[in-house]
Amino acid sequence: MALHIEKIAKSKISNVDFSNLKFGQIFTDHMFECDFENGEWQTPKIRPYQPISFDPSAKVFHYGQAVFEGMKAYKDDNNDVWLFRPDQNQVRINKSAERLDMPAFPKEYFFEGLNELLKLDKEWVQKGANNSLYIRPFIIATENCVSASSSNKYKFMIICSPVQAYYAGEVRVVFADKFSRAADGGVGFAKAAGNYAASFYPTRLAGKDGYQQVVWTDASKHEFLEEAGTMNVFFRVNDTLLTAPTSDRILDGVTRKSIIQLMEDEGIKVEVRKISVSEIVEAARKGELLEMFGAGTAAVISPISGFSNKGESFELPKLENSYAAHIKKRITDIQRNLAEDKFGWRYKVQ
Ligand code: COI
Repeated sequence: MALHIEKIAKSKISNVDFSNLKFGQIFTDHMFECDFENGEWQTPKIRPYQPISFDPSAKVFHYGQAVFEGMKAYKDDNNDVWLFRPDQNQVRINKSAERLDMPAFPKEYFFEGLNELLKLDKEWVQKGANNSLYIRPFIIATENCVSASSSNKYKFMIICSPVQAYYAGEVRVVFADKFSRAADGGVGFAKAAGNYAASFYPTRLAGKDGYQQVVWTDASKHEFLEEAGTMNVFFRVNDTLLTAPTSDRILDGVTRKSIIQLMEDEGIKVEVRKISVSEIVEAARKGELLEMFGAGTAAVISPISGFSNKGESFELPKLENSYAAHIKKRITDIQRNLAEDKFGWRYKVQ
């Protein structure tokens, strides 16, 4: 594959305070991009990270034809850089693209671009338990035309941001009983930009009451708990872990599916099934709801300390030996090359 590379004259890295990073605000020296024109993806390039300009009529601004992915790279003590199940993200961005009537991005370009970009910006992947490089591949519609139909031009890009924790403090959630994130037959399963935009207003309202996230429920009756938008959600009732099945409303999260596999492998009982609001509220009242946590690439495993349902708030117990802490260690040890990779999930950048 031909790949044009233009390197930065001088790295910006010495200006960065890696001990004080806000999620997704600082970007590395280079970016990968590839344009789709005349029915095919053109020669990809890597060039210094910089603003890009578009005509105001570019379709992405008007119709939100945009999809993205989230991945992370980790550095081990030997200075090797690792990705976690990048094959899953490569397949998923094309599933999302198909639903938004966008062309698939070739697998070979995806991996070569990612690998070369990470080799160039390797210094930006910091060692240490809390550090990683968040990788954001995305595709946007770039045709200059405001007719409401699919674009015939697109841009695929990968940008990278050194990060630490996604949520700074405790995470408390509200169970949705009015707004919805996704509906049957819609785009909820896709990482479509608009899914996130639609969640911001209800999330801001929740924030006013001290809740950081909304746990979305089924759009018809708000009876079943689905996902939290930036993460899938797990519930521990006594010693059983529960999570909702994926569907065309729920993102097929890489962290989610890895947790299910790891926990089943350890003999922990995992039930993937519809979870009703009423059973969780009842379990909380009986003291049987021991934990709730979110799982996602950006958020990793984020323990949820409390929730609100129809104005009533519930606190979760603080456990010494939580499943969340255990699972987080299992998964991050695999990601960081600190534990055996029994399922072949790690991918070395070389
Ligand atoms: C990710 O975990 O990569 C996500 O997509 C969440 C993001 C919107 C910050």
